[in-house]
Amino acid sequence: MYTPERERELIERTRRYLKDLNKLKGASREEAEKFIEELREVIRYHDYKYYVQASPVISDYEYDQLFRLLRDLERKYPSLVSPDSPTQRVASEISGSFPEVSHYAPMLSLDNAYGEEELIDFDRRVRELTGEEEIEYSVEPKYDGAGIALVYENDIFVRGATRGDGEVGEDITPNLRTIKSIPLRADFSAFGIRLIEIRGEVLISRDEFRKMNEERLEEGLTPFANPRNASAGSIRLQNPAEVAKRKLHAVVYQVSYVEPEFSFPKTHYEAIKMLHLLGFKTPFPDMKVFSDIRRVLDYCREWEERRDEYPYELDGMVIKVNKRSLYESLGFTSHHPRWAIAYKFKARQATTQIIEVIFNVGRVGTVTPVAKLEPVQIGGVTVSSVSLFNEDFVREKDIRVGDMVLVERAGDVIPYVVEVIKEARKGDEKPIIYPEKCPSCGSKIVKLPGEVAWRCINISCPAQVIARLKHWGSREAMDIRGLGEQTAKALYAHNLVKDVGDLYFLKPFDFAKLPGFADRSAMNLYEAIQNSKNRGLDRVLYGIGIRYVGLTTARKLAQAIESIWDLRSMGEEKIMEIEGIGEIVARSIKEFFSREENLKVIEKLEKAGVKLRRDRLEIEGPLRGKVFVFTGSLDSFSREKVGEIVERLGGTFSNSVTSKTTYLVVGKDPGRTKIEKAKKLGIQTLTEQEFIEMIRTFGDPEQLVSEKQSQRTLF
Ligand code: IVH
Repeated sequence: MYTPERERELIERTRRYLKDLNKLKGASREEAEKFIEELREVIRYHDYKYYVQASPVISDYEYDQLFRLLRDLERKYPSLVSPDSPTQRVASEISGSFPEVSHYAPMLSLDNAYGEEELIDFDRRVRELTGEEEIEYSVEPKYDGAGIALVYENDIFVRGATRGDGEVGEDITPNLRTIKSIPLRADFSAFGIRLIEIRGEVLISRDEFRKMNEERLEEGLTPFANPRNASAGSIRLQNPAEVAKRKLHAVVYQVSYVEPEFSFPKTHYEAIKMLHLLGFKTPFPDMKVFSDIRRVLDYCREWEERRDEYPYELDGMVIKVNKRSLYESLGFTSHHPRWAIAYKFKARQATTQIIEVIFNVGRVGTVTPVAKLEPVQIGGVTVSSVSLFNEDFVREKDIRVGDMVLVERAGDVIPYVVEVIKEARKGDEKPIIYPEKCPSCGSKIVKLPGEVAWRCINISCPAQVIARLKHWGSREAMDIRGLGEQTAKALYAHNLVKDVGDLYFLKPFDFAKLPGFADRSAMNLYEAIQNSKNRGLDRVLYGIGIRYVGLTTARKLAQAIESIWDLRSMGEEKIMEIEGIGEIVARSIKEFFSREENLKVIEKLEKAGVKLRRDRLEIEGPLRGKVFVFTGSLDSFSREKVGEIVERLGGTFSNSVTSKTTYLVVGKDPGRTKIEKAKKLGIQTLTEQEFIEMIRTFGDPEQLVSEKQSQRTLF
């Protein structure tokens, strides 16, 4: 047990160690001897906070830094190692409510590399230990979800377990059986395999995660901090029917055990290819093999740059020696295999202090507490404020002004207070008190029955109008560059707009009146607004600000109707017939269209020429957001067919290479300019074969073209 004083002391020590890391790394034996036991104490304390109390007070990255400091010192001065050092064991995560099962092979974790040098060291070690000049590495994404092990016996999925302490995990088979990307039967016998254990990760996509959190907030539940916690929480639910409702996926990335022994695939690549062929979701085709560590590094960096374009949260790349015959000569440390390493992306958590809490009024009048933070860098972005969502969230986490908090910003997910570091409290932290009146218009705020949020119900409240303008201009809505909060405020203050419809009737000289606007910037904003007219029906539906209509719901609606006006004439029942639309959303849509002032805004938009109709199938698919350009001729398909396939899978087909291009597919006799441009912009090129392999993972290309009408669920 730790007394509050001791905890404070340990946290202070943590800060000091982290600050002096470089100096401590170079400590002499005598110097190290003086602080190494204290360093162990600090690490033990963080182990306890993380594993026992489930409330870590430092980020994973910071923990890793401390752990490595200890490990490196112990390596340098082996006489200082003690048998009870935190480096001498694997920590446990068992919670006790599921039956325990032993894994066939221990589930070790991976050693981490935080940059170029450490990766090159890894390569050097591998070459030294194996005596090989050249090593083939297989490189694949590191998925940030919940680790699992699956067992198939005589082709049947017989058992699925969590990692647990690495030796013994929790048997969660009934829960995993609900995940559709885990085949219940797979033809392993065709590969001569009778029994196989496979490692993988349960994941939730960022879109689903966002939706899940929106729903949790509406229901008054605490949102999850990140997709990883959402996955880990979901697979441990006691009711498999509830698990089935969460949109979970499973990717498998390692074969850890097979019987009979000789049927083990010879390389990691082959093993994954086999799993892929048997119908599992795998890192394929994102898994690549290189025999030069520089190329490995380039590939890792490429992914780090684009990690936010991937539908799932990734925290790095995993580099594995491809040939299994080399595993034996490489062996294991007590924690990690020596034949693999994780190249970690930049950390997305940090600790900082809450300076004050203000109250924001949103576009539907919800009053949200927002914590202003001592600015802190997370994943290359400065975070200086974070939403505290609602009164329940504040109460559950017991957040106070002046508190030190652990903040996470995962991908494009909004920053989130993961934990309050209560141990760092000095006693002068102040509770957060809700205002009685709207901070913008001064009307009394109310809490409607059955809702968790306090709301200002004055529809012309300036804060609401400004928030609606800003939302309309946001990237995921109409993407109007230059229409941020400040401009929205200024437009309102100058009486130039009352709603989003007015934006389209403004002229460049109107903007030139605003503070800070020169002729050029006024013209730019004018053009940005005019250019936003064709963003598509889904974006209009999202941008217009109907309560409970988030991006995903807007997309579903846009696929089911022809024009925004359809929603005015459709009854609640009819709206609910649309896949994925429930009663609350349907009622909110009806209520939106029953208000005269909203119809007027839509009329204004229509008059201005904003597209309010659907013009092409807007597809949700695995290639959504990916832009393909082709050059040269392809053997297998005509250009037309290829475009159709890409679009069927939700991707976009474009004629010229720009910074928005995701892949350039190079066929026979390609154009030089496109290739050069792609090179300059660092855009990935694919051969025809690679392209075909990529789309094959989503189905038979021939069928993708012919089966036009039936949307498949591919991902
Ligand atoms: S291989 C012994 N491959 O990262 C090697 N792990 O710190 C077995 N992870 O516990 C793991 N993506 O939960 C491997 N492509 C990947 C991975 C991956 C995510 C997780 C896994 C593991 C942890 C290692």
